[in-house]
Amino acid sequence: MKKRPEDIKVLVTRSFPEAGIELMRKEGFNITIWTEDRPMTQPELIEGALKNDALYCTVTENINKYFLNKCSHLDIISQFAVGFDNIDVTEATRLGIPVGFTPDVLSDATADVAFGLMIAVSRKMFYLHKTISRGEWDYFRPKAGLGIELKNKTLGIFGLGRIGMEMARRCKGAYDMKIIYCNRHRNNTAEGLLGAQPVSFDALLKDSDIVSAHCTLSDDTRGLFDKSAFNKMKPTAIFINTSRGAVHDEHDLTEALRNGVIWGAGLDVTNPEPMQPDNPLLAMENVAVLPHIGSATVETRNKMSEIAAVNIIEFYKRGRVPNIVNPETTADNL
Ligand code: DGY
Repeated sequence: MKKRPEDIKVLVTRSFPEAGIELMRKEGFNITIWTEDRPMTQPELIEGALKNDALYCTVTENINKYFLNKCSHLDIISQFAVGFDNIDVTEATRLGIPVGFTPDVLSDATADVAFGLMIAVSRKMFYLHKTISRGEWDYFRPKAGLGIELKNKTLGIFGLGRIGMEMARRCKGAYDMKIIYCNRHRNNTAEGLLGAQPVSFDALLKDSDIVSAHCTLSDDTRGLFDKSAFNKMKPTAIFINTSRGAVHDEHDLTEALRNGVIWGAGLDVTNPEPMQPDNPLLAMENVAVLPHIGSATVETRNKMSEIAAVNIIEFYKRGRVPNIVNPETTADNL
């Protein structure tokens, strides 16, 4: 039986852009917003979720088996993110809880961050910026602060989906890079439009000047970029990660950079997050680190907010979640 809008209680776990919250208000839903400027602890999340029917949440919430079994009454979990490794989707599916997410709209913003990090690393920009704030303006010493150029280099994309495709487009357009990729499936669009060539993981590591990770975090990708992977890369290679920090082994990456096994690294995601201020990576010349801002533009976050809301609205109106991770849960849910 369909619930009346005023009987639909939605817990919003953070202060999200208003666009989507407004859409849910217009539907007449009963919204509760967590207003503290920190993620909810798990007990707080459980307490809140128990009083609500739907959860509008993001990557900072730990939606694990324990939570799901305590809150198995939830009609829907709508995640404000494209990644959903904070959610035990297998358990949600077993319990029949649909999980929505926000793909596509953040591909450009995230690819911009990957592209920006690549340039920043290749020219040591973050490091040189820091030297100026320390009063060390190194005026035109011909051999100081030298970077490397990107034109005609080879970009290796690990995980050529929507975001990887946008990174590849940028690198092709700006630097006429050769694009190689390693993916579960062939990407015919990238092959046709950009001449991208599928290769094995080992060939990707061996032949790329820039290796950029755009995969999801799974049992297969956790810690994949480790000592053995870095050892296969060129000593002049740059590693970029804008996917999830746990895809690389941070200790092995630090050692690889320290010992000149690879040339540089640009990270929008770290392991763990947040990165501690005394992390040695932050002091290295050829490293650029950002605090997981891939999707952080006004336009993108507004769109994510709307999509996460529409996932909930459509679920209650039509029993369908337009962007769903586990479609098998929606058939008879109302
Ligand atoms: C995502 O959408 O998965 C991002 O990493 C969170 O901003």
